[in-house]
Amino acid sequence: MALSAASVFTAPRHPQDFLQLVNPLSSARQLRGVVTSVTPECSGSVTIAFRPGRGWHAHEAGQYARIGVEIDGVRQWRSYSLSAPAGQDPAITVTAVGRVSRHLVESTRVGDVLFLAPPQGDFLLPTGPRPLLMLTAGSGITPVMSMIRTLVPRRPDADVVLIHSARTPQDALFRAELATLAADHDGLHVAHRYTATDGRIDFTSPADLDALCPDWRSRKAYVCGPAELLDDASQMWHDHHVADALSVERFETALLTDAGAGGRVVFEKSDKEAVADGSTTLLEAGEDAGVLMPHGCRMGICRSCLVPLRAGQIKDLRTGETHADEGELIQTCISAPCGTVHLDV
Ligand SMILES: Cc1cc2nc3c(=O)[nH]c(=O)nc-3n(C[C@H](O)[C@H](O)[C@H](O)COP(=O)(O)OP(=O)(O)OC[C@H]3O[C@@H](n4cnc5c(N)ncnc54)[C@H](O)[C@@H]3O)c2cc1C
Ligand code: FES
Repeated sequence: MALSAASVFTAPRHPQDFLQLVNPLSSARQLRGVVTSVTPECSGSVTIAFRPGRGWHAHEAGQYARIGVEIDGVRQWRSYSLSAPAGQDPAITVTAVGRVSRHLVESTRVGDVLFLAPPQGDFLLPTGPRPLLMLTAGSGITPVMSMIRTLVPRRPDADVVLIHSARTPQDALFRAELATLAADHDGLHVAHRYTATDGRIDFTSPADLDALCPDWRSRKAYVCGPAELLDDASQMWHDHHVADALSVERFETALLTDAGAGGRVVFEKSDKEAVADGSTTLLEAGEDAGVLMPHGCRMGICRSCLVPLRAGQIKDLRTGETHADEGELIQTCISAPCGTVHLDV
């Protein structure tokens, strides 16, 4: 009612446009958040806290959110784990590795507006009390940090072992806070593994894990970090018949890099074209050409990026399989063109 009355005075612009000038979080069309702090972490990483607007729901420890930023006039989306404890305003901790993360780390300022999708993910704490083992490396510590911040100060019965790998002490995210938490709470034990001096954890036998956490087989375990760590840990838990006790969070998917010659991609509805090599995904090719490509996780999990194939052949960069059925829904984030491809987007 208030809006329709307002529209009498604001036509031809929509009242939402004027409300947005007053409050950038008021858009009903796109969930947004305003940055409330930017805190430098160790080299190349920052924690960005934000106050989300309408449409956001409180996150659970371990979940992630899709964050959108505009770079050179194109909105780019990436997923980031929420590092703040459950029950507090969200924050992400971003490590600069590529285009979007570098932009977030180097250019984000208090008061900036981020585009958001609500928290999601099932990398979550168990529902009842259990001894836990967290195995993390690099920026993979972020969802686990939310779990530790949520659980350890609030639960006297918490029993958490964190084994975190970083190249050097200076590269170890949250090192000082973890040391304080471990000193204040008997239920948290932190072991750092500095790969520059100690080497990586050896998963060819259980000896390293046995030394770091002798009862690892009986703990509910979480692993997050580079693909190699996730694959090695999954194999170890599988070999020791405790695979059900391991939860894995992947930040990236291994894709073939020598997948073929690539080809021309025609984005029919957008009336745009691109030429992509055999290791460039259809999603990346579309974004680079300025096509509004639907996507979510960008790693072959969520299927938000499905687009119908109109003609041509594509290759699944995870498996090398080819697909050429007209009308088939293609996961553009993990597929590359083989020759000329027409997409219905
Ligand atoms: C569920 C989920 C949670 C995530 N949480 C975080 C988080 O808390 N903090 C964070 O910094 N990133 C996180 N990521 C990764 C993030 O979404 C981006 O992939 C990352 O920031 C790289 O994007 P970019 O545009 O900067 O690089 P791009 O230009 O898209 O890619 C550059 C290269 O970096 C590789 N890459 C992706 N992630 C990493 C990484 N963590 N370390 C090293 N190389 C990487 C990619 O495989 C690619 O080869 C998460 C991803 C997922 C799916
Ligand atoms: S964006 Fe999630 S499967 Fe492609």
